[in-house]
Amino acid sequence: MIIEDFMSEVGETSIREKLAACLKSNPKTLPCMFFYDQDGSELFEKITKLEEYYPPKIEIPLLRSTARKFNGELKDCDIVELGSGDCSKISVFLDEVPEESRQTIVYYPVDVSREAIEKSGRILRKKYPEMGLHGINADFLEHIENIRGKRKRLFCFFGSTIGNLTEAKAMEFLKNLNSVMNKKDRLLLGMDMVKDIDVIERAYNDSQGITARFNKNILKVTNSHLGTDFNPDDFEHVAFFNKEYSRIEMHLRAKRDLEVTSALLKESVILKKGETIHTENSHKYTPGHIRKMADAAGLFLENIYTDEKKWFSIAEMVKR
Ligand code: SAH
Ligand code: AVI
Repeated sequence: MIIEDFMSEVGETSIREKLAACLKSNPKTLPCMFFYDQDGSELFEKITKLEEYYPPKIEIPLLRSTARKFNGELKDCDIVELGSGDCSKISVFLDEVPEESRQTIVYYPVDVSREAIEKSGRILRKKYPEMGLHGINADFLEHIENIRGKRKRLFCFFGSTIGNLTEAKAMEFLKNLNSVMNKKDRLLLGMDMVKDIDVIERAYNDSQGITARFNKNILKVTNSHLGTDFNPDDFEHVAFFNKEYSRIEMHLRAKRDLEVTSALLKESVILKKGETIHTENSHKYTPGHIRKMADAAGLFLENIYTDEKKWFSIAEMVKR
């Protein structure tokens, strides 16, 4: 599979500067795209199989039924999946597409993780030898305008990964996506919906501690870029629902006073016992939020596909 590379132009210096600035901010943060090295991607795959982590359990059957509705429109189509990860979601979708249509499809997985694209490319090549494959190793927040195509495209952004962006970033992202979309293109956007807070909080505080390991993995990734000596054991995993922002927040809380050093940093990172590093937001939406986001981005909301309990939605949007 060809893999186009937009990540090498980002450069290690700018990654270091970004991480150093986040650790200097008040409160301290780390960008959630740094969860996903090989271990982080594997931990996320484990999360998706946890009993408590409900989103894929609802999104997958929804993807099946949505794919059946789209069957007729997928001939000669480029499918561009943003944050494609292990490609398990698109497989569910493609399984519903007749082989004669799949022969005419080219699938473009877009992910910051080159390993994830390579691994899923191998799986998809075996599963669907008749389908075209073209990987794009890119940051969907920075490189979306590079994703140009001549044929009609179906953009897929599954798993509620959009929920990991702040409201402002999500709007900016959708506006940018709109600007590269053509009239015939479509977007399918998976979104986790507001529901009972206990259900949501349990999904991010699982009994096996996998989410805690996933959260702490960001420190290991930070160490590898920034040369810091964060010890994940010095932190505890914290995840709670913030009602005001309608989102789960994940943090890492220092168990003791800490001084974290690096030869690459002028000053060490000082954390007081109890101080937190904010690592992730995961927004939960209402139909009102979905409409507002589509409107603000200049997209037309054609449909919201949802389950009986309305726990998860796939929004279908087109260019206005
Ligand atoms: N869509 C998959 C994976 C979700 S995990 C699913 O629903 O199961 C989030 C994925 O998005 C990871 O594979 C991660 O590497 C990727 N990702 C996170 N931030 C990204 C960014 N800014 N640009 C491109 N990919 C990103
Ligand atoms: C990828 N993303 C949508 C997941 C989420 O639910 O926000 C990441 C995750 N974080 C903790 N558990 C799963």
